[in-house]
Amino acid sequence: MKLSSALALFAGCASALWPLPVNYTSGHDVLWIDNNIKINYKAQGSYGYGSQSSAWTNKIVNNAIERTYDTLFNKNFVPWKFHPRFSDYEPHNGHGQYIRSIDLVQTAADPANINKPAIGDVDESYKLSMKSNGQVTITAKSSIGLLYGLTTLTQLFYEHTNGQVYSPLAPVEISDAPKFPWRGINLDSSRTFKPLPDIFKLIDAMAYNKMNRLHWHITDAQAWPLEVSSMPELADKGAYVAFQKYSQDDVKKVQEYGSVVGVNVFMEFDNPGHTSSIAFSHPDLIAAFNHQPDWNTYCAEPPCGSLKLNSPAVYSFLEKLFNTIIPQFKPLTSYFHLGGDEVNMNAYLLDDTVKSNSSAVLQPLMQKYMNRNMKQVKAAGMTPLVWEEMLLDWNLTMPKDTIVQTWLSDESVAAVVNKGYRALVGNYNYWYLDCGHGQWLDFYQSNAAGFWPFSDYCAPLHNWRLAYSYDPLSGVPANSTHLVLGGEGHTWSEQTDQVNLDALVWPRAAAISEVLWSGAKDEHGLNRSQITASPRLSEMRERLVARGNNAAPVQMPFCTQNGTQCAWPES
Ligand SMILES: *[C@@H]1O[C@H](CO)[C@@H](O)[C@H](O)[C@H]1NC(C)=O
Ligand SMILES: *[C@@H]1O[C@H](CO)[C@@H](O)[C@H](O)[C@H]1NC(C)=O
Ligand SMILES: *[C@@H]1O[C@H](CO)[C@@H](O)[C@H](O)[C@H]1NC(C)=O
Ligand SMILES: *[C@@H]1O[C@H](CO)[C@@H](O)[C@H](O)[C@H]1NC(C)=O
Ligand SMILES: *[C@@H]1O[C@H](CO)[C@@H](O)[C@H](O)[C@H]1NC(C)=O
Ligand SMILES: *[C@@H]1O[C@H](CO)[C@@H](O)[C@H](O)[C@H]1NC(C)=O
Repeated sequence: MKLSSALALFAGCASALWPLPVNYTSGHDVLWIDNNIKINYKAQGSYGYGSQSSAWTNKIVNNAIERTYDTLFNKNFVPWKFHPRFSDYEPHNGHGQYIRSIDLVQTAADPANINKPAIGDVDESYKLSMKSNGQVTITAKSSIGLLYGLTTLTQLFYEHTNGQVYSPLAPVEISDAPKFPWRGINLDSSRTFKPLPDIFKLIDAMAYNKMNRLHWHITDAQAWPLEVSSMPELADKGAYVAFQKYSQDDVKKVQEYGSVVGVNVFMEFDNPGHTSSIAFSHPDLIAAFNHQPDWNTYCAEPPCGSLKLNSPAVYSFLEKLFNTIIPQFKPLTSYFHLGGDEVNMNAYLLDDTVKSNSSAVLQPLMQKYMNRNMKQVKAAGMTPLVWEEMLLDWNLTMPKDTIVQTWLSDESVAAVVNKGYRALVGNYNYWYLDCGHGQWLDFYQSNAAGFWPFSDYCAPLHNWRLAYSYDPLSGVPANSTHLVLGGEGHTWSEQTDQVNLDALVWPRAAAISEVLWSGAKDEHGLNRSQITASPRLSEMRERLVARGNNAAPVQMPFCTQNGTQCAWPES
């Protein structure tokens, strides 16, 4: 990024785009949005409006246009927090030109699977030109690129106290593309249920930060909220309460909402561990179910329970489950996450089909079990994901296109790519957004002292600066960086429900989004500066709040109103 002058930043006229575009210049001319502004879409060639394969393209572009009007006029904000107190920062009537139209130019056809893209299918780049005479053009190869161009455009505009909408930044030239193709958030809807409006709000904020994958960790040990048409008993008995279920239609609505804004929604069925909730309807399939009180020998958290590892009944159950949910999910995603984290070998001591915790006994059974799952996912033409333990701890051989999701360390990322697999990052010391809120377990008087001050396993809370300092390529050999697809911020939900979801995720997930879109290093190869990121992130927070998201504040107005007075002095 080239700032037009240091003044632009420190006098509170920050060109506050988030995530930061790759190439960006701006000026100091004022432009106003005409109340009757028109956004015109033009596809070059025979695709686009009216052609056969373009139903989704039209849906994406029309929605992007509507969102742009809505953001500019209804979800904007007066940026007083970013200017010295009582300063005369707003442009005066009569200064500057009006923007009466915006031209969108799509220069290539969308891929046929634009609603369920795989890595590499969609060109997400765009160019934006906003001349001082009010001429605005966004050019992109895909409808998603146009959406991103419009998203960036809205961040150039502010609400005036007189009610009008203006930008103090013309002329603007931007050309932009993401560093990583996989920019996601993992949402756990088992430990606590997330109502649809909250999931929509999450997707909206993700799209506004140019994130493109929602990993829906839809089931786990504690509850099974997913309705499965061939086995209604799973949710009827496994949900926490009758009204906390996702119907087939609910799932489709979430996937569609995401696909329209470039956020592909894919599901994780975590197994064979993290499946205790199946025991509420199928007790014979689960080993070590809710073993108490010494649960910690058999699982990472209560209730314990693993699908039995060597059981024909479990295999039939999986066959039937996958035959129902794969066709349900597949029209709107190319991915299926097969889980595989935190399998506790001791659970199989209590598994009547195994009765062993020896890895020599268990490893071949796990290979066979995962082969079964992989076969069904591959037969459906989908790409499987697994957690790193399946590859790095269990030494499984898997289809070469399997995406391996790491979480335990940077060394895991290097180990995964060294084995030739594609990796997602999300080191729990940086990108687990649920960490640092203290233990959710209770302690008896007899051992409470030993756990004081009751920190959780991944404390402390990972603040935005820490999340922002994480480089997905740290420790990855230069010849393997292409195998790091990107990563995800994680929202495990022992202590996160719809009441605190927004503020738990935002704005820290925005810090993650910028690492994934713009890269962890700046154009000089240096760590990105907190000094320039902080006011931009504060502004993104205000824009999220204007969208109805209860994102947490980054700094108090004293800091954002006037330059770098809240910086720690350089020594
Ligand atoms: C802004 O900060 C500068 C010092 O960096 C100071 O001289 C000036 O008075 C401040 N202005 C306001 C309005 O606080
Ligand atoms: C940014 O500008 C450089 C230099 O002109 C160019 O090589 C690069 O392709 C541009 N990047 C994008 C994403 O447009
Ligand atoms: C395996 O089980 C035995 C009891 O049968 C136990 O003593 C041992 O600690 C277990 N191994 C692990 C690694 O937990
Ligand atoms: C995987 O391989 C490592 C290294 O050879 C070994 O220590 C470990 O026990 C193996 N895991 C299993 C489940 O067999
Ligand atoms: C850049 O960030 C990394 C990761 O946080 C850190 O280890 C390193 O010391 C930083 N480099 C500088 C020059 O600050
Ligand atoms: C990267 O280079 C190392 C060392 O030369 C080599 O062992 C490894 O196979 C290479 N990896 C890839 C993916 O080419």
